[in-house]
Amino acid sequence: MNTNVKGHIVSVFGNMVTAEISGRVVKNSVGYCLRRDGVRLLCEVIRLRGNLSDLQVFEETRGLRIGDEVDFHEDMLSVTLGPGLLGQVYDGLQNPLPQVAEKAGYFLEPGVSIFPLDVERRWEWTPAVEPGNTVFAGDSLGSVPEGIFEHPVMAPFTWSGEFTVESIAGKGAYTIEEEIATLIDADDRKREVRMHQKWPVKRALRVARRRLMPTDPLVTRIRIIDSMYPVARGGTYCIPGPFGAGKTVLQQITSRNAEIDVVILTACGERAGEVVDTIREFPHLEDPRTGRSLMERTIIVCNTSAMPVAARDASVYTGVTLAEYYRQAGLHVLLLADSTSRWAQAMREISGRLEEIPGEEAFPAYLESRIAAFYERAGLIRLRDGRRASVTIGGTVSPAGGNFDEPVTQATLKVVGAFHGLSRERSDARRYPAIAPLDSWSKYAGVIEADKVERARSLLQRGDEVRQMMTVVGEEGTTVHDFTLMLKSEFFDASYLQQNAFDPVDGATSRERQQFVFDKILEVIDLNFEFEDKEEARNTMIKIGNLFRDWNYAPWDPNVRPSRTPEPSSGQTPDRHEKLKNPLEPHPQIRGSVNTGQENEPEGKKDGQVQPNSKDRGDFLTILRGIDKFIENKGREAKREDEIPGDKHSSHLLQKAKSITADARPRSRRTLSGRGPEEEEHKAPKTDDEG
Ligand SMILES: Nc1ncnc2c1ncn2[C@@H]1O[C@H](COP(=O)(O)OP(=O)(O)OP(=O)(O)O)[C@@H](O)[C@H]1O
Ligand SMILES: [Mg+2]
Repeated sequence: MNTNVKGHIVSVFGNMVTAEISGRVVKNSVGYCLRRDGVRLLCEVIRLRGNLSDLQVFEETRGLRIGDEVDFHEDMLSVTLGPGLLGQVYDGLQNPLPQVAEKAGYFLEPGVSIFPLDVERRWEWTPAVEPGNTVFAGDSLGSVPEGIFEHPVMAPFTWSGEFTVESIAGKGAYTIEEEIATLIDADDRKREVRMHQKWPVKRALRVARRRLMPTDPLVTRIRIIDSMYPVARGGTYCIPGPFGAGKTVLQQITSRNAEIDVVILTACGERAGEVVDTIREFPHLEDPRTGRSLMERTIIVCNTSAMPVAARDASVYTGVTLAEYYRQAGLHVLLLADSTSRWAQAMREISGRLEEIPGEEAFPAYLESRIAAFYERAGLIRLRDGRRASVTIGGTVSPAGGNFDEPVTQATLKVVGAFHGLSRERSDARRYPAIAPLDSWSKYAGVIEADKVERARSLLQRGDEVRQMMTVVGEEGTTVHDFTLMLKSEFFDASYLQQNAFDPVDGATSRERQQFVFDKILEVIDLNFEFEDKEEARNTMIKIGNLFRDWNYAPWDPNVRPSRTPEPSSGQTPDRHEKLKNPLEPHPQIRGSVNTGQENEPEGKKDGQVQPNSKDRGDFLTILRGIDKFIENKGREAKREDEIPGDKHSSHLLQKAKSITADARPRSRRTLSGRGPEEEEHKAPKTDDEG
């Protein structure tokens, strides 16, 4: 490393330090401010003015004084890439936090820096090339197993041109520091390859062959997302929402249930307690696909609100670079950033200290371009060997006061492909996920055909109009027809869009199930009930609503065949084909299962076998028969309890329906691993059809 350029501090302003330099320094290169007690504080050159260099220091600057020395390096702020990243918890500068804590104790000391990967661990290496082969940057030279994946060791991304393999290590166990290949470049120079390499975080990793249009839906198993406002693999989306509306919970359930290989969570400036919860939770959560710890395919990059702001900036870039690395390795990666607003606040703070001309709400003028550049790093690519891999980015935005007109939300909206706006009204009513169904949108194709989604959306729209009208003219002034419309929209919302994140069955709905249930919902919506009065309309819709909500809690029965014929044209290419093509994927079967593996479990689950905790769950097929009967008789016959085929559960519901006017099912506050506090008492969300 070249450390010959030195400087001396001339001013310290928060985490901004200005140094006088003698020599050439490059913007975005790193350096160290040397405290007199010998502690080295990492910093990055963010502006150069003649012989002055402005540095952002990633640590507390307390203790730095005018005249202290600065050591400049040629490297950019970089991350170390290699096997062993999965399962780690890093800070924004890729220090593994558990090891930092071990070294420094409860209070993180400035200047502690630890190599991000385990250098002693031996990895079982299998070579994939032979001497004489030609390779390019990013090509796999061999692989080591990492958790559930085969991790390819790739020719360094920073190398350009064609290389000839001179030697390659034989099958065996090696540490990441050992040399595993020697390549010769076009100029006959020998270059050594180890299992790890570095990449500057602020540069997008682009060694792919081709960028593709994201078309396949990323199934999150959250109904309102997959069916109504889908996200594509390789696409981008944002979740703006007021404080406490459920942004973090939504990201957590997505990271758990989404059909994706690797999840990278960047907690950027969130409250430390929340981050600690996540770190505590994840190792206990089970990966629905493998039954192993979810942490095995997760990386957490966290920079809490208590840590210096400059490191927030770094953590966003560190997260996305790690995501790009695993994409280059042939996997589908989901990067979740919580929250990008706090990252933007960090930008604002730094820009203020640089005394730059502020833009809207004092954010820097380059806010938009920075946000755009970040989301642009998402994408679906085709690798040189033909495989497809993706990075999907989902960021939360926490606009002050829930006002979506502020600059960060607006800048994000311009670049993302889907918008899941959370509404305070819905979260207050505990209608989770609190994604506002009328304000949200998506440009991607989901698991339901577009025309069906449009029908559902227009129902929601008309229902909302009636509801607003009713606030003026009252129920008496509303026709039975309009009233029914409103009840239907309410039914769709409560029975389909709302989902109990903490229930093992309702919490995650597979693609097949969503398609099946959505068709049934439409059948109900399309019924011409011809109600005589509003009382009849209300009672009937409550009945069917309860049947559907009970259905949501009943484990999916794979024996039920979707009533549709698959239409691959509508973005419904089954992912498992894609998976099977992926040689890195030892678990090609995406079992359309919920997290507990209750759905589609190969054996033991047939005939609606009872789950351990399902004593009060109905049986999928029995409830389905009840629903079909309801549809057949337009809800009329169903009034007589004994008509619903032999399901005690449903008859019990009919009883209940008389005494309640809305879904009174408990919405628990349990933590995702189910270890948290007890269930909350019943709290019926107020619905407009009351009274
Ligand atoms: N899908 C959900 N199901 C049940 N409860 C939920 C759900 N989403 C959120 N909640 C409840 O709302 C609370 C706040 O959610 P969360 O912490 O995700 O909000 P947030 O938008 O991230 O807030 P902040 O802006 O403060 O970070 C949770 O603790 C939980 O009790
Ligand atoms: Mg949050």
